[in-house]
Amino acid sequence: MTTAGDQATRRWSDALMPRTFTLWTMVLAVASVVSQAGIIVTGGAVRLTASGLGCSEWPRCTPESYVTTPEMGINGAIEFGNRLLTFVLAAIAVLMILALWRLRKTHGKLFGMSLVLALVIPAQALIGGITVWTDLNPWVVMLHFLVSALMVSIATLLAYRVGVERRARLTNTHDRKIQDGVTTPLTRISSITIYIAGWFTLVMGTIVTGSGPHGGDPAAPRHEFDQLLVTRMHAAPVYLMVALTVVLLVVMYRLQTSVRQRRAVWSLAAVLVFQAVVGFYQHFNDLPIGVVWMHMFGIGLVTWAMTVVLDVFNSKYESMPTQYEVAQKEEPETLIHA
Ligand code: HEM
Repeated sequence: MTTAGDQATRRWSDALMPRTFTLWTMVLAVASVVSQAGIIVTGGAVRLTASGLGCSEWPRCTPESYVTTPEMGINGAIEFGNRLLTFVLAAIAVLMILALWRLRKTHGKLFGMSLVLALVIPAQALIGGITVWTDLNPWVVMLHFLVSALMVSIATLLAYRVGVERRARLTNTHDRKIQDGVTTPLTRISSITIYIAGWFTLVMGTIVTGSGPHGGDPAAPRHEFDQLLVTRMHAAPVYLMVALTVVLLVVMYRLQTSVRQRRAVWSLAAVLVFQAVVGFYQHFNDLPIGVVWMHMFGIGLVTWAMTVVLDVFNSKYESMPTQYEVAQKEEPETLIHA
């Protein structure tokens, strides 16, 4: 006999570990993208308020305390606040793993992505610790940042796959694709090149920052690169990204592309314009902190948009039934009474 307690437990476990793609799975996938992009913005706040050594130690904040103390002032509060966000990211990552746990046999790749997102969090905490131990060495800060950008890209791929699976359930069709319109060698090459140029832009951006004034602490070591030269090298691939986005916009309307493909390219065009305008403005106006922070916000948007464009023209992903759904089709009676 099943008791009310057993039923409540089962309801909770079914909600947290569903046997199919539910709204909860979708919410968590979106939360993964938002939180991974968000930590770039909060990390930016630490750097731009010169709070990088607001906690002088790691894993402790001060030699005596794991949490910030009044003596560490506002910088301590900002740095420590950013450290606490690790736990929010970790909570979302663990819930994501649970949400895909019962789907791992049929959707192993998605489960694998959720594992990567979770396992990188402690690694990032350690890299963050090394940035403190090295007094904000710009190469270590660069690595810390780039790993976060990579996680935004992986979380975006995961969210798009969960989105396709979710739509398949809502419309009861099991052949939903990410690349749901026409693609040609030109759209494929353009989108792949945009993605590669995007990564070059990200890497060069961190070099520009490492050579600039906002190192996270007045005494932080700086690169000795020529600031103007590295900024030009940072902006050059952006011209290529913009040119290829225009190519995609033109080609798209001559092909049977889908609404999703068009939306993806228009979104990329919009975020590129935003990011380039902010980038040039900060460059020609001595890097005002508020504007540099907007540039940090744009980084998540560009990473998301270039990943989606890559996906909608190249992905082979198709939605497929879960183990439970297959079994339900074969033996509906058994499962209903199970
Ligand atoms: C696709 C467009 C762009 C992306 C994705 C992008 C990305 C980035 C990234 C990742 C950083 C380093 C952030 C950090 O290490 O904390 C950065 C810094 C910077 N970017 Fe861009 N950027 C873009 C366009 C531009 C353009 C067109 C310019 C114009 C010159 C520009 C100027 C700068 C400058 C001056 C910095 C250094 C800011 C500082 O010292 O704090 N960016 N960008």
